[in-house]
Amino acid sequence: MAMSLFKLLAALRAMLYCLPALALGDPTNWGCLHCPSNSADGLPTPTYGSDQIVFTVCAELNISAPLIDVYNAILDFQAYPSWNTFAFAVDLPSNVTTTPTDNYVGMPMTFHTAGVLPPFNTTSNEVLTVLDYANAAGYSLSAWRYDDGLGGAGMRAEHPNVLVDVGGGVTRYLSFETYYLGTETAVVLPLKGNLQTAFEKQRANLKAYVEGI
Ligand SMILES: *[C@@H]1O[C@H](CO)[C@@H](O)[C@H](O)[C@H]1NC(C)=O
Ligand SMILES: *[C@@H]1O[C@H](CO)[C@@H](O)[C@H](O)[C@H]1NC(C)=O
Ligand SMILES: *[C@@H]1O[C@H](CO)[C@@H](O)[C@H](O)[C@H]1NC(C)=O
Repeated sequence: MAMSLFKLLAALRAMLYCLPALALGDPTNWGCLHCPSNSADGLPTPTYGSDQIVFTVCAELNISAPLIDVYNAILDFQAYPSWNTFAFAVDLPSNVTTTPTDNYVGMPMTFHTAGVLPPFNTTSNEVLTVLDYANAAGYSLSAWRYDDGLGGAGMRAEHPNVLVDVGGGVTRYLSFETYYLGTETAVVLPLKGNLQTAFEKQRANLKAYVEGI
């Protein structure tokens, strides 16, 4: 009885906390975001906001591990080959010798990915945009954006990772990528299904990896 009342109050508090943000459509309260229940709906990103969204692929789940462990695993790009079947390798600048310690905002990276255009492997150039482990609102956020080499004229896309401590040693992981209108839209749009599947794979991989550390 006492436990369920506590849970009810916690849920109510979380709901009230997120209510103003949702009502105003405030895209900066990242801890309140969830994967859209309708796959046609998009989520905003820190760099590009909510205008001209073409689509969002999204994966969310709870991981039984402290937030810091999940945060570090997402940013430990050198370890990706050991757990991530989607982004199976990441090339880093030569002066970055240890991740996540040496990561910096603006860091260029090349992701090697499988499953986007099977049977081929693909690569994409990315730039680290957000490293926010702890903030007053109680969530953590990291993000990187696609670099099309055309200043965004071809394709803008950004991949935020939002972590929220939901109590009981559990961290809620929300990982999504939003693609925006550009001249490459027609090329990327048919890949939406594969990208969604890849994000779901990565979600399961991350949970297995972090819970097994
Ligand atoms: C994660 O756990 C929280 C707290 O128990 C719960 O409210 C939420 O529905 C869970 N989310 C998912 C995606 O399982
Ligand atoms: C690596 O180089 C970048 C850009 O030149 C710089 O911002 C960063 O601090 C350097 N990192 C290390 C660990 O030296
Ligand atoms: C894709 O990369 C993986 C890992 O390096 C490799 O094992 C596989 O052979 C590659 N597939 C293709 C089609 O190049």
